[in-house]
Amino acid sequence: MTRHFLTLLDLSSEELRAVIRRAIELKAMRNQNQDYAPFVNRTLGMIFDKSSTRTRVSFEAGMAQFGGHALFLSSKDTQLGRGEPVQDTARVLSRMVDIIMIRTYAHSTIERFAEVAQVPVINGLTDLYHPCQLLADLQTWFEQRGDISGATITWIGDGNNMCHSYINAARLLDFNLRIGCPEGYMPNAEIVAAAGSNVEIMHDAMAAAEGSDLIVTDVWASMGQEQEQLKREQAFQDFQVNHSLMQVAHADALFMHCLPAHREEEVSTEVLEGPQSVVWDEAENRLHAQKALIEFLLQHC
Ligand code: CP
Ligand code: NVA
Repeated sequence: MTRHFLTLLDLSSEELRAVIRRAIELKAMRNQNQDYAPFVNRTLGMIFDKSSTRTRVSFEAGMAQFGGHALFLSSKDTQLGRGEPVQDTARVLSRMVDIIMIRTYAHSTIERFAEVAQVPVINGLTDLYHPCQLLADLQTWFEQRGDISGATITWIGDGNNMCHSYINAARLLDFNLRIGCPEGYMPNAEIVAAAGSNVEIMHDAMAAAEGSDLIVTDVWASMGQEQEQLKREQAFQDFQVNHSLMQVAHADALFMHCLPAHREEEVSTEVLEGPQSVVWDEAENRLHAQKALIEFLLQHC
């Protein structure tokens, strides 16, 4: 049966831990200059309805390292942009490529695509979730600290796609997730409810960060919300990750951000560039984590 990766919940806890372990192995192999090309002649199709640096480059480089090929398909230049139904595109691409990644707006678009796709479909970000980023964030945590079960993780900022994926990660790997967000910017209530006692919502950033092992944030206005930038800057002014906020977390707390970051908005330059920040490892790990994911999906279809 074809496996997809539309949300983290498409993997079991054991599978997620195995993908993270494999990502760490693949990273070590690459650092030792070992060639590992199990997917010669395989093609990844990548559909982008939104901008990207990390997602595009990590998938494309990853497939090249595997001996395969990646195709960048912008909706602007394909028939998708002229209204060809996603289901038709999914059926056609399934006959030509071996695996497909999509970055788009509505999560329902990727669900409709996956319903008819005959090859694995990977969510490269939707308005609702960003599960590939969580693979990289979790890999980064595991490298630095070991298993995440029982740890206290704090999300500061918007209850957005990244926040939703953190909620799913808390469910799967059994960590405590505190979400510090303004009243009007809470995560989706159903996604929160499904996570039960693993998730706590707070509206005071300092209280949310107190005694935490990892502080994570993201932009205040996500792709597609550019027109809300000013309104959001006001709503989120007490939700900047800065030195004072890091001071109330554990002394060895890490800082993560999926990037791109807006310095002096959601995070101070001091924290982003400071000793607790692991954002560059986190960005690099997109490559290794997604290679582990591609390997998992191609071996299971
Ligand atoms: N973090 C992330 O997904 O970055 P890009 O938007 O550059 O792909
Ligand atoms: N929440 C951000 C993440 C970017 C990688 C967005 O959706 O724009």
